[in-house]
Amino acid sequence: MKKVSFTQMKDGDKEDYKLLEKYEKKFERDTAKRILKYLSEQTTTLEGYKITRLEHSLQAATRAFNSGESEEMVVATLLHDIGDDLAPMNHSQYAASIIRPYVSEKTYWIIKHHGLFQTYYSAHHLGGDRNARDKFKDHKYYQATVDFCEKYDQSSFDPNYKSMSLEDFSPMVERIFARDPYYFV
Ligand SMILES: [Fe+2]
Repeated sequence: MKKVSFTQMKDGDKEDYKLLEKYEKKFERDTAKRILKYLSEQTTTLEGYKITRLEHSLQAATRAFNSGESEEMVVATLLHDIGDDLAPMNHSQYAASIIRPYVSEKTYWIIKHHGLFQTYYSAHHLGGDRNARDKFKDHKYYQATVDFCEKYDQSSFDPNYKSMSLEDFSPMVERIFARDPYYFV
C-alpha cells in the first residue's frame, strides 16, 4: 500500500492528502461492517445478568422493530449499549456519538440520555434518586426517552425471548451507515 511522504503533517503535500482521503473514504464505507463485527463479539459482558450483551441488544432492537419504529431507531436501539466496554461511566454518550452523523436529533437525544433515564428502575434500590431524569421533564424528547427505556431497554433481559438475529439487522445497519453523514448536521 502506498504511503505518505511526510513524518510531520505540516510537511504533507496535496498528493499525500489526496491519498489519505481515498483510504479514509473506503474506511468510512466499512463502518457498518466493523460495528456488526464488534456487536457479534459482545458475548461475554454483563456479568450477573441472565443474558449476554449481544442478546440484550438483539432483544431490545427486536422489540423496537416489532413496535414499528423507524429503521434508524431500530438500529439505534441495537447499538444503544455499544459503549459499555470502553466507556462504562458514560456509555450512552459513547453510543450516541457513533450514530450522531447518521440519525435525527431526536434519536441521538434518546440514546444519549437513556443511561440516566434507565436509572429509574434501579437507583432507589441502591440509595440513589430514581427520578434524576425529572430534570429533563420539560424537554421535547423526555417522554420518548422514558418510552424507549420502558418498552425496549429495561424489558430486554429475558432468556426466553425469541429475538431476531444479528444477520436480520445487518442490512438495516448497512443502510443507516450508508447515509450522507452530513444530512442531519
Ligand atoms: Fe440496554
